[in-house]
Amino acid sequence: MALLGVNIDHIATIRQARRGIEPEPLHAALIAEQNGADQITVHLREDRRHIQDRDLEILRQTVQTRLNLEMAAIQTMVDIALRIKPDTVTLVPERREELTTEGGLKLLNDHRDLIRQLQNTGIEVSVFIEPDPEMIKSAAKLGVQAVEMHTGKYSNLTDSKEIAKEIERLHQGALLIAKLGMRIVAGHGLNYHNITSLTDLNCIEEYNIGHSIVSRAVFTGLAEAVYTMKQLIW
Ligand code: PXP
Repeated sequence: MALLGVNIDHIATIRQARRGIEPEPLHAALIAEQNGADQITVHLREDRRHIQDRDLEILRQTVQTRLNLEMAAIQTMVDIALRIKPDTVTLVPERREELTTEGGLKLLNDHRDLIRQLQNTGIEVSVFIEPDPEMIKSAAKLGVQAVEMHTGKYSNLTDSKEIAKEIERLHQGALLIAKLGMRIVAGHGLNYHNITSLTDLNCIEEYNIGHSIVSRAVFTGLAEAVYTMKQLIW
């Protein structure tokens, strides 16, 4: 059975809409863990649009499974990771104007030093890249322990032939990642409909999923929330 990393960024997105104290991301992390999450994933963005530094500190003290920190491949973020010590750092591309992470990270030789700094303190390093053979080989050359394949393209496609082609690209990518001795991870845009074609491949070891889980939670919880408020109103 594959591992599930639950990305709780959107809980913080709702909180930051009012810059208040609810909903609390820690609460989401605990519920996720109690219900089978194998990992809590957060993206500390440079613009701090959702997860804040204090969230990371609190989560590090409380997460009992694994804490996966997604972050830009820059020294200031590496310094934060070295202090917090998440179990895994996933290096992602980051542009301030984007709504969410678009496209995979282009791996460069310059990343080697950042990766070593993290690994030297016992942090596992994963890289979020397109399922492209050359990029996967570059990841292996940089010595990372895991590769997270970007499933954004797969998630956005609507044509069945194109979808089948992209699934095959992800499958071949997964086989190459395994052959090169790294852990196979996938994420971005995965939901309750498109996940099964990937689990059917029977080789992806971990998924990081956020948007669809939080979206579903809104509706599975809305009835109770309205009912309880109505009881308080006379
Ligand atoms: N993996 C990575 C590296 C991401 O950047 C994201 C989005 O923050 C996800 C997984 C989760 O994507 P989604 O929220 O679409 O499930």
